Amino acid sequence: MPLYEVEKSVIVLDIGTSFTKFGFTSEPAPRSIYRTQVKSKGQIRELWDYRDAQDLYDMLVDFFHDIYFKYALNSPKDKPIVIVESLLCPIIFRETLAKVLYKHYGVSSILLLSSHLVSLAPLAIDTALVLDVGYKEAVCIPVCYGMPMIHAWQALNLGSQTIHKHLQMLLNEKNSGAQNLSEMTLEDIKVRCCFVTKKSRAQQLQTLKPQIEMCPEIKYPVKGSTTISVCGTTREKAYEILFDEDADHLCLPTMILDALMKVNIDLKHQLAENIVLIGGTTMAMGFKSRLKEELLCHSKEERYKKLNIKCFKFHTSPSKENYAAWLGGAIYGSTDCLNTKAIQRRNILKKRNYLIGRI
Ligand SMILES: Nc1ncnc2c1ncn2[C@@H]1O[C@H](COP(=O)(O)OP(=O)(O)OP(=O)(O)O)[C@@H](O)[C@H]1O
Ligand SMILES: [Mg+2]
Repeated sequence: MPLYEVEKSVIVLDIGTSFTKFGFTSEPAPRSIYRTQVKSKGQIRELWDYRDAQDLYDMLVDFFHDIYFKYALNSPKDKPIVIVESLLCPIIFRETLAKVLYKHYGVSSILLLSSHLVSLAPLAIDTALVLDVGYKEAVCIPVCYGMPMIHAWQALNLGSQTIHKHLQMLLNEKNSGAQNLSEMTLEDIKVRCCFVTKKSRAQQLQTLKPQIEMCPEIKYPVKGSTTISVCGTTREKAYEILFDEDADHLCLPTMILDALMKVNIDLKHQLAENIVLIGGTTMAMGFKSRLKEELLCHSKEERYKKLNIKCFKFHTSPSKENYAAWLGGAIYGSTDCLNTKAIQRRNILKKRNYLIGRI
């Protein structure tokens, strides 16, 4: 392919811990968002629950087989592919992924993009503080003039997985008849019944006799006529785990403030006024306003006083937050980056390993 010609309909993938976003470059939304699972030997397994490199290799072969021959319906041979991944993605995953794509499927090149960086493309900005709250963890990385500030990154195990565990604990406490619910049921209860409440209500809910009017109970149907009662307190408290400080006094808002503490003083205010939220968990009702409330409250603490920030502003992404990074990948993939920055198979095959770099 000549250097000046940009390939049409290149696959763009964001392989999240729980959901994979699949689509093509130059399109405004993914064609499909489905669970990151692989059916191997008659068993459905989570892709990220691999035992070792060989196990991951085998699973990725099956995973990409579905992508090319079930979703994309085209041959991978000599075609480029765009992969969006977190800056904290383990090396073993990246290396095995490259091996599968170059060696097994014979793709011509891979354009590997950092999810935090490319999420800014749909907003057409180059400086922002990006907070990704997905399934497994929350990762906060400031991006300044198109460069992710790796030294300032913050990560905590605060994603949907933690919320689901907390929700199960709350349901058990209330004896709602819901023991050991599956991850999918907990997720459904969370999305349909729970919401992020206001800080003042959250404080009241921690007292023995809350002086507030409780929100109504919901009967959630499971298995035909059986129902689980999700009481008002559970509905409001499910997301509180994100805002409760742990033993090290860390929580979601402190991650943002800690990241700001680590960047150059000239950029602090600019970043605080350009916060970009990505990841499905940030789509929860009331999430943004509560985060803002918490940020204003925590910024008054002694440890963050020297930040001297009085205003926090959030961007509204043109897409849904759960595929904001995918959309950034689709934009990058439709530019000249695909020809100039993608790693070509011919160059990789000359090397001994498959470790590839990303933008
Ligand atoms: N409208 C919504 N309200 C609340 N939660 C939601 C909503 N939509 C999606 N989610 C949650 O977002 C989570 C998935 O988010 P996302 O797709 O960003 O995760 P991921 O990319 O697979 O995970 P990670 O980035 O940690 O690897 C799911 O657990 C889902 O329950
Ligand atoms: Mg993700």
